[in-house]
Parts: sequence; C-alpha cells; structure tokens
Amino acid sequence: MSPSPPARLQPRVTFPAARMLHARAAPAGATRASPPHHRLEAVSRDHETIPERLAVVTGGNRGIGLEVNNAGVGGVVVDQDALRALNIDPDMWLSGKATHLLERVVVQTYDEAVKCLKTNYYGIKWVIEGLLPLLKRSTSGARIVNTTSLRSELKRMPNEKLREELRDADAWDEKRIEAMLEEFLEALKHGRVEEEGWPTMLPAYSMSKMVVNLYTRILARRHPEMRVNCVHPGFVKTEINWNTGVIPPEEGARGAVKLALLPHDGPTGCYFDQTELGVAW
Ligand SMILES: NC(=O)c1ccc[n+]([C@@H]2O[C@H](COP(=O)([O-])OP(=O)(O)OC[C@H]3O[C@@H](n4cnc5c(N)ncnc54)[C@H](OP(=O)(O)O)[C@@H]3O)[C@@H](O)[C@H]2O)c1
Repeated sequence: MSPSPPARLQPRVTFPAARMLHARAAPAGATRASPPHHRLEAVSRDHETIPERLAVVTGGNRGIGLEVNNAGVGGVVVDQDALRALNIDPDMWLSGKATHLLERVVVQTYDEAVKCLKTNYYGIKWVIEGLLPLLKRSTSGARIVNTTSLRSELKRMPNEKLREELRDADAWDEKRIEAMLEEFLEALKHGRVEEEGWPTMLPAYSMSKMVVNLYTRILARRHPEMRVNCVHPGFVKTEINWNTGVIPPEEGARGAVKLALLPHDGPTGCYFDQTELGVAW
C-alpha cells in the first residue's frame, strides 16, 4: 500500500462552497463536487448575511439527498432488464439472500469499485476536511451526518478477524482505513474477494459504507464538541437501487434530518437505522 491514495483516488473537491455553485460540469474522470443546488444558491447570493444555521448537502439533486445528505453510488455494472426479470423481493435484497441470484446481472468491476470508494468514502472525507475549519467555528457545535447503509453492518463482513478489528474504532485512522481499501482493491483485481473474506454482496459498496461508519466514529472521538453520526436511510426507492426500494425519499430523509438537528447533548459516534439507534458494529 502506498502512503497516499493512488492518483485515481486523489481529491479534486474544491472549496469554498460558493465556488461549487459554478462547478456543475467536472472534467472527465474527476470526482464531482456534488452539484450545489438551490438551497446553497440562496445562501451564496446573500453571503454577506451569515445565516444562523447553514446546512451543506452533498448528492442533493435527487433521491434522498433531495431532502438532505450524502452523495453515493452503488459501484456496480447492472443489466437492468435482467434484474427486473429476476423480480427480487425486498426481503431477498436486504437479507443478502439474493447474492448468488444477482451474480450475473450485478457485476462488480474494478473501475466501478474505485469510483464507489472514491465517492462514498473519500468524497465524504474530502468534503468534511474542507468544511472542518468552518464547522469548528460553530458556537453551537456542528452536526455531521454521513449516509451509510445496512450493507455497513459488520455482521455482513465474512472475514472474522477483520470484523473484530473493525469493531474497535480506537485502533483505526484514515491511513489504516485507506490501506485496507487498497488491500480490498487488490483482492478484487485478482479475483480473491470471496477467498479473502471480503463482502460478496455489492463488495465495494459494502466496504465503502463500513469505512464510512468507522470514519464517523473516528471523527466523533476527535471532535467531542460536535455531534457526528451515520444513518441508514431505509430501503428507499431511488436510482441507486434501480428503484427497487420500498419507501419514498421524503421518508428516507427523516433520520438524516433528525441527526442534523440533534441537541448539543445528543448522541455522537452512533449508527442510526432510519430514526432509531441501530447496531452496526
Ligand atoms: N436508496 C436506498 O435504499 C439507500 C439505502 C442505503 C443507503 N443509501 C445511501 O443514501 C445516499 C443517497 O442515495 P440515494 O438513494 O438518494 O441515491 P440516488 O438517487 O442515486 O442519489 C445519489 C446522489 O449522489 C450524487 N452523486 C453520485 N456520485 C457523486 C459524485 N461523485 N460527486 C457528487 N455527487 C455524486 C448524485 O448526483 P448526480 O445526479 O449528479 O449523479 C445523486 O444526487 C447514498 O449515500 C446511498 O448510498 C441509499
């Protein structure tokens, strides 16, 4: 593992947020800063007036993010007609029982895996790092809400040793997380995902969300004055799951809104399954 992320994983997100307003079209291959839509626009036009509260939303142009929250991709190549023909019910999806059925229609390629890790984990990290100076100045203690997924739950990590290691957030930092992601990509490149005990259902997506949880806990430890949590929005009908979800985006956004508005003595470093505390590690 190289000490810094390989070129494909280098940050390209630029700040301040006001500049993002004009960054709709990113150069080919670049990580896009999430298209900053109307709510940010209102703030930037009137940037002389500092609002009491400012919410930055990534992945805000459709799906759950239309209400609030983080950019994300599934990181797989999908034959949508074949997927529809399989008619997989929500229980099969959520339990992971569909893994083998999906093998031929949902394909984990190396390139999609890189894109997925870059968007779902590095994207969150770069945005947070960019905003931290501002967040630290908040007199009421900032709130950070990272969107995660059921796929992040450690019971879904086949590798027992790694599963136990991932439970102990104190033993991790970004460098160790990124070294693990590189090991995962190597395993994927050489067809050793199952053999080495990495998740086999949506491998890159699952890894990306497991490390989103870990990173959330690391941030919560480092910034006790803030409330930093992650939330699984539920099985929401959006493009990321080819509209196989069962609840509308408005409902999926509830947990994130609740966490964004937590009181200053509210929970931090926690995983929420929609609006309730859940168990992911
Ligand atoms: N839907 C579910 O059932 C479900 C379940 C668990 C977790 N989640 C999580 O919920 C979050 C929102 O997903 P969703 O369901 O609302 O899916 P969605 O409708 O596909 O929306 C994804 C959003 O992410 C943005 N995005 C993707 N790649 C980006 C990049 N590189 N830079 C900036 N923005 C990017 C998209 O913007 P563009 O339109 O510009 O691509 C879009 O706004 C994701 O983190 C997802 O993993 C969803």
